[in-house]
Amino acid sequence: MSKQSAKNLLVRLPTTEAEPGQRRAFLAKAAAIVCGGLATLTPLAAGVWMFLDPLRRRAATASFLPVTTTTSVPDDGVPRQFAVVSDRIDAWTGFAAEPIGAVYLCRQQGAAEVQALSATCPHAGCFVQIEADENCFRCPCHNSKFTFAGSMVAPSPSPRAMDALECRLEKNGTITVKWETFYTGVAGKVTRP
Ligand code: FES
Repeated sequence: MSKQSAKNLLVRLPTTEAEPGQRRAFLAKAAAIVCGGLATLTPLAAGVWMFLDPLRRRAATASFLPVTTTTSVPDDGVPRQFAVVSDRIDAWTGFAAEPIGAVYLCRQQGAAEVQALSATCPHAGCFVQIEADENCFRCPCHNSKFTFAGSMVAPSPSPRAMDALECRLEKNGTITVKWETFYTGVAGKVTRP
């Protein structure tokens, strides 16, 4: 190989002076990517927060709802069923005065207090009915039975007694019930969010 050919084959190595410039360019690009990412993600995170907001607000509410008046619950120890009506908010949509469930109210002879039981069966969520002949509740779906006080009658597919609800007698004679729903199919009474 001639001297001239050997010169042509020499590879030019980058000079050390070029490195700071390359580093600056790299850092500028990285900074641009980070700023661009922040600019995109911030409104996105705000959007997700707004989207989930109704769900958060819904989980925070469990209020006393007016169900009936004391005169509608005779003190004869026999439960009566009442619809629970409320303005319902389905995450993003509001529905005025809709039935959202049912309760049984019962008052013993001479007693001022009223007992409130959710009409929803703790086994799988069917509506429990009154079995007048046997003085008990019975669920039509899988035949769970409960006493009028809400206790299980064995053998029972239901894993727990009927769910008692907090109840108040207001000064104007209205009965209000703290409306809550609970997970079905489990032994413990666990409030649904
Ligand atoms: S849902 Fe009531 S017994 Fe199954």
